[in-house]
Amino acid sequence: MSITTELELLGMKKVSEVVGTTLKLMKEYAKIGMSTKELDAYGGEILKSYGAKSAPYETYGFPGYACISVNKEAAHGIPSKNKILKEGDLINIDVSAELNGFWSDNGGSFVLGEDIHNHQPLVDASKNILHKAITNIKGGVKIADIGHLIESEAKKSGFKVIKNLAGHGVGRSLHEEPENILNYRVRTNRERFKKNTTVAIETFISTKSTVAVELNDGWTLVGNKGGYVTQHEQTILITDNTPIILTESNGMWN
Ligand code: CO
Ligand code: CO
Repeated sequence: MSITTELELLGMKKVSEVVGTTLKLMKEYAKIGMSTKELDAYGGEILKSYGAKSAPYETYGFPGYACISVNKEAAHGIPSKNKILKEGDLINIDVSAELNGFWSDNGGSFVLGEDIHNHQPLVDASKNILHKAITNIKGGVKIADIGHLIESEAKKSGFKVIKNLAGHGVGRSLHEEPENILNYRVRTNRERFKKNTTVAIETFISTKSTVAVELNDGWTLVGNKGGYVTQHEQTILITDNTPIILTESNGMWN
């Protein structure tokens, strides 16, 4: 959305702080032996305590308050009492919600406990690439150029990007214009980031796959060629300079 008043800015700051804090607390709460359902219920309670509504649950009819994807699940993993977290699991939590008519979105991947399966390089690549991408965004920058940056950085780290998942505008709804902030360059896309707009920038860095495909449950996405996928996402406000990271309460770069 385009921010034109102080009230809109405050609204976006507030909901972003809530989803950021929820993500941070959920990540800290995740423990070996816990089911993803239990982790989700904890996140759902936090959102509720702020008066915020889970975007996937309320708007999309998703069977959970947050998307929790484990190991081979690339995104939109459904919280389940049968999914028990284990040492070295690659976990992604994505929290998005609405508060007072404003929407915000953030997510992050991490390794639970000891990194016995060596997922950390993929996690670090995703996190560092998101940081670099965001640092390079300001009003007037081409969306395609940021896509190119993300893909080149992924390649440099020995990884690939998922081509059919993307960042997006956010604010008055979860997904709005610009709808496809892709992780690679589409040469024909001449669209530019606009000052004073809020967008969710997200990476999808993978070891093998380049396309996310949906499982029969109608939600869970996995890589078309297997392997692992990591995602990091922040909602930002674009300025003339370095963007303001509205969801920084998630502590992603601490
Ligand atoms: Co998200
Ligand atoms: Co998003």
